[in-house]
Amino acid sequence: MNRLKVGVVGAGYWGPNLVRNFSICPQTEAFAVCDANPARLESIGRSYSGLVLVPSVDELLALPLDAVAIATPVSTHFPIAQRCLEAGLHVLVEKPLAASVTEAQALVELAARHERVLMVDHTYLFSNAVRLIEQIVAGGELGELYYVDSIRINLGLFQHDINVVWDLAPHDLSIVDHVLKRNPRSISAWGCGHADDNIEDMAYVNVDYDERLMASFHVNWLSPVKVRQMIFAGARKSLIFNELNPTEPIKVYDRGIEVGQSLDERRKLMVNYRSGDVWSPHIEPGEPLQAAVGHFAQCIREGMAPLSDGNLGLRVVRLMEAATRSLKAQGGRVVLSNGVNSNGVLDARANGSGELHPDRARRPSGSKRGLARVR
Ligand SMILES: NC(=O)c1ccc[n+]([C@@H]2O[C@H](COP(=O)([O-])OP(=O)(O)OC[C@H]3O[C@@H](n4cnc5c(N)ncnc54)[C@H](O)[C@@H]3O)[C@@H](O)[C@H]2O)c1
Repeated sequence: MNRLKVGVVGAGYWGPNLVRNFSICPQTEAFAVCDANPARLESIGRSYSGLVLVPSVDELLALPLDAVAIATPVSTHFPIAQRCLEAGLHVLVEKPLAASVTEAQALVELAARHERVLMVDHTYLFSNAVRLIEQIVAGGELGELYYVDSIRINLGLFQHDINVVWDLAPHDLSIVDHVLKRNPRSISAWGCGHADDNIEDMAYVNVDYDERLMASFHVNWLSPVKVRQMIFAGARKSLIFNELNPTEPIKVYDRGIEVGQSLDERRKLMVNYRSGDVWSPHIEPGEPLQAAVGHFAQCIREGMAPLSDGNLGLRVVRLMEAATRSLKAQGGRVVLSNGVNSNGVLDARANGSGELHPDRARRPSGSKRGLARVR
């Protein structure tokens, strides 16, 4: 079978990782690279002798390609992806899908109209650690989930067109979308900018799902140390994902509280503490981006919807747009029109917008919740 010919747009920090992975994937061939900066083109050309190097998307679209991967600044994702989809190419866009809900929605619709695969590189969804976390949570081992707490901080690469939420939170938001499979009710975010007043370089984002489940994300470009940690805390057990621990990135703690069962015990808030074993499951090695490009190729070949399809990308963008509104209102709570009202009835506005999480949509109305190097 012929390898799919892929063109990569953007050969800055992340683009060369795509070129390398498309080169070694048995189903794809890194055929061409497009970058507006001649020095970047020259540099990637030195590492890969057979690549066609072009300075513009116009010239890229004249080549015999099957697909394009876009690794340019976020503000350019929409115009480039739009042109590639209209030219009949399958498209892999770097996270986040686009710079606004309007743009993201337009790309989802365009891909559907042209029957092309639109995938977002939410790389973590292809990491074996996150796959295992999803299985552990779905299997009910943690019990009812109480909260998610994530810290993603380091001395970051400042971006000129997006704030720290748009740069780092796509990772956390795509992970929780995939693992929790739930629609948030509201979001609030607090943050500020130091290098530039208008570009927040640190932020705290809080997402509420219902009365008993909340998620909190700290993203920061100003931290002297790098921390990548997520806690998934449940009624029975809790899981900590520390991706910087090379040997034991996931630890499951049989620790927590037990609340009295009788009304009297509950009224007196009689809580017992439970402290049991800690175990660290084996994680199969493997580069997430290699799995992502292989999945993209498979989706093209088999006409499948990607795990991180345009709808997931749109849900992530929707949360970040709401978080930015909240940031500008100094933490004001933004209620999300999830399409589910208090009676569990779908709101018509959600249909077709990709807003409603598909797993949530399948759940019968009124049903209880189940027991439930990237930058
Ligand atoms: N999945 C991940 O873990 C991950 C990690 C880092 C970055 N990213 C994403 O990758 C994308 C690129 O980030 P980066 O850090 O590599 O940026 P970068 O600024 O280092 O590189 C962007 C490149 O795009 C080129 N470019 C810009 N506009 C262009 C255009 N119209 N036509 C052709 N070339 C153009 C620039 O010359 C530059 O070389 C962003 O969306 C970012 O969020 C993803």
